[in-house]
Amino acid sequence: MGGASEIFKMKKVKKPKVIFQTPRGMADILPQDQGIWKTILEKAREIAEFYNFSKIETPLVESTDLFVRTIGEATEVVEKQMFSFKTKGGDNLTIRPEGTPPVARAFIQNRLVNLGLPSKLYYEGPMLRYERPQKGRGRAFHQFGIEIFGEVDPIYDAQVILITFIILKELKIKDINIQINTIGCRACRSQWQQRLKTFYQTRLNSLCEDCKIRLEKNPLRLLDCSDNSCIAIKKEAPIGLDNLCNACNDHFKKVLEFIEELKLPYVLNNYLVRGLDYYSRTVAEIWLDNTEFLGDNLNPSRFSLAGGGRYDYLIEMIGGKNTPAVGMALGLERIVEVLKAKNISYLKRNPKVFLIQIGDSAKKQALSLIEEFRRSKIAINEKLGRSSIIAQLQAANKTGASFALIFGQKEAFEGNIILRDMRSGVQETIPLEKIVPKLKKRLSK
Ligand code: HAM
Repeated sequence: MGGASEIFKMKKVKKPKVIFQTPRGMADILPQDQGIWKTILEKAREIAEFYNFSKIETPLVESTDLFVRTIGEATEVVEKQMFSFKTKGGDNLTIRPEGTPPVARAFIQNRLVNLGLPSKLYYEGPMLRYERPQKGRGRAFHQFGIEIFGEVDPIYDAQVILITFIILKELKIKDINIQINTIGCRACRSQWQQRLKTFYQTRLNSLCEDCKIRLEKNPLRLLDCSDNSCIAIKKEAPIGLDNLCNACNDHFKKVLEFIEELKLPYVLNNYLVRGLDYYSRTVAEIWLDNTEFLGDNLNPSRFSLAGGGRYDYLIEMIGGKNTPAVGMALGLERIVEVLKAKNISYLKRNPKVFLIQIGDSAKKQALSLIEEFRRSKIAINEKLGRSSIIAQLQAANKTGASFALIFGQKEAFEGNIILRDMRSGVQETIPLEKIVPKLKKRLSK
């Protein structure tokens, strides 16, 4: 007996009226969903580790300035989406909205360069962004990310795209394609930005209100605006590819050659610019290409399963030495949603053995008996709070156990246990010291 409701009854305490809920845009990950999460994370870790990435963990919060400097002041994330606060000691902190700046900060702070370059790191965990919640978009969500520091070679742009792509493929998500673009380096991008400004200045009246403001601070973002009038105009806007310097052109050509060599499905998307300021050269996303799942209202760009690219200036922006870098991150909730729609069961299988105990001396020995099964790697279930054999047998049935071990007063006294085949109902009495090998044999059949 017991439970919260019993306590309220006994103490005559009034139940509180407020039923607490998760904050808006945030969700619990329930026991029944742990199987799907485990499948995703194990696959992602296995592939990242094969490619020699090492795990890194950073705190949930960082100095606010780390994100402002890298993601950029004129971005949606910094302007509207950060969960920022001042500590009692007066520090300005932000709960990480993404993993790249924290990992870059850790790379510099811990001198990971000394372990040799390229430094390949992966991370996983919750991120917070104050967004308007909708399908596939929460305020708290999880990412699995990979980052490579210290390599400018375009082969690594292709490698991070490949790794992200195969994680999704091996999770049996079939309808995906890579959206790829280049936004050039500092030198060629500023020229392109200037051309964009000139182009859009003459069309100012047709732009949405947001884009009118963006034009001054962040003209690239006009290219991925989803407002209908802005979409119509952008078809004639200058694109990155036509404004590259020779080095950036050469870099992007090679990335595409590697991707083609791998035979990965890609779309050269001239309007992909990404919402974070730190990128340079290659930018990429992985989109779901499944109209049945997305429905009519959800543009694939709003449900990208992964995103990332090259960010050769970020380490320098936060005080490190010039270190080129490239990386990508997968959005885990979106992957969970896609896998759930496939109706594959990821439920953990219940143990095949169920322990039933009757009487005080059997109950006393039950905990050490279960521990013996753990040491012997045999999964076992129980309902030790119940004393009736019927209730316990019903529980064994409900969990689908193949065998029940019935440990009664007489058996505890004689050092035996009854092994009951739940399907046939056949029972045999076995000496306690022989039950582990006996069960191992029966379970392996
Ligand atoms: P991002 O595109 O902002 O990039 O996020 C990566 C992925 O996280 C998205 O493709 C999406 O699947 C998921 N995601 C983002 N926001 C939400 C949200 N509000 N709700 C649910 N899922 C979301 C980055 O964060 C970069 N740090 C990626 C990167 C790594 N670039 C270089 N290295």
